[in-house]
Amino acid sequence: MYPSIYIMAFEDMHIISMKDFSRDTIDHILATAEELEPIARGKRTSDLLAGKILAVLFFEPSTRTRMSFEAAMTRLGGSVLNLGSVEASSITKGETLADTIRVVNGYANAIVIRHPKEGSAKLASEFSSIPVLNAGDGAGHHPTQTLLDLYTIRRESHLDGLRIALAGDLKYGRTVHSLCYALSLYGAHITLVSPKELRMPNAIIKDLEDRGIEVKQTESIGEAIKDVDVLYVTRIQKERFPDHAEYQRVANSLQITPELLVQAQPGLKIMHPLPRTNEIDQRVDLTHHACYFEQAFYGVPVRMALLALVMGAIE
Ligand code: CP
Repeated sequence: MYPSIYIMAFEDMHIISMKDFSRDTIDHILATAEELEPIARGKRTSDLLAGKILAVLFFEPSTRTRMSFEAAMTRLGGSVLNLGSVEASSITKGETLADTIRVVNGYANAIVIRHPKEGSAKLASEFSSIPVLNAGDGAGHHPTQTLLDLYTIRRESHLDGLRIALAGDLKYGRTVHSLCYALSLYGAHITLVSPKELRMPNAIIKDLEDRGIEVKQTESIGEAIKDVDVLYVTRIQKERFPDHAEYQRVANSLQITPELLVQAQPGLKIMHPLPRTNEIDQRVDLTHHACYFEQAFYGVPVRMALLALVMGAIE
């Protein structure tokens, strides 16, 4: 961990895990994103990354992360080179990730990668002389999602001393793992809501408690929702269950409805990294609590800030 007043030099830096960031560094990224937000909204134009190329390597499906990285690069005047489907690439001929990364180094100024295997973004960074940005490595880390989550909380609520409930699949959901670590830098009060099969790993809870963070655990969403500023809901990660029967047992264990929200604080904000299945009733979209579509948009200014920083266009 870096000392708390340390803001790192970003140029050529890999973005792999939230554990690499101090609070001051995060605050610097979020402030940069706020400056760039009018460009993300199309209200101003920019050529900050003109002549730069971002290589996009997605070995797992994505809508928001891939498209918001592409939008971020395009809004800043840069270009995108997409590997496309894995089936259409030479990976099907047995090419290794290391060789793919070495080759792509010759085509681009930075690489964004999503891969089903935990540790793959770190591995890619070890074979890359250009910045690698982790867009999700299995059940491991998804740091750019965490940064946009923090940005959303800062814009829609407040970060310091936040009271937050994290609900859903806390075992396999990589976004909540990274978010907990980041929120610990802001003195959050965290309530974890999940069936016992999907509890947050004990090692993460211990890390949070060691950092002086108050962590409560409950299976009752009704109990948790009463006194929090933010409710962060996650999808049950069907694709990560080793046993389908185990998935079926917990598949419908959580649903946020307007009826449930009667018990909530008036200013409660509901976030979700999306995609959702049935854990948030669509009627909730019409309430002032819903901010998950705005959250998806905030991925653009945050990824613009990261790309501009690691490509050395701004400091
Ligand atoms: N939140 C998120 O990572 O969405 P995608 O899987 O669509 O990229």
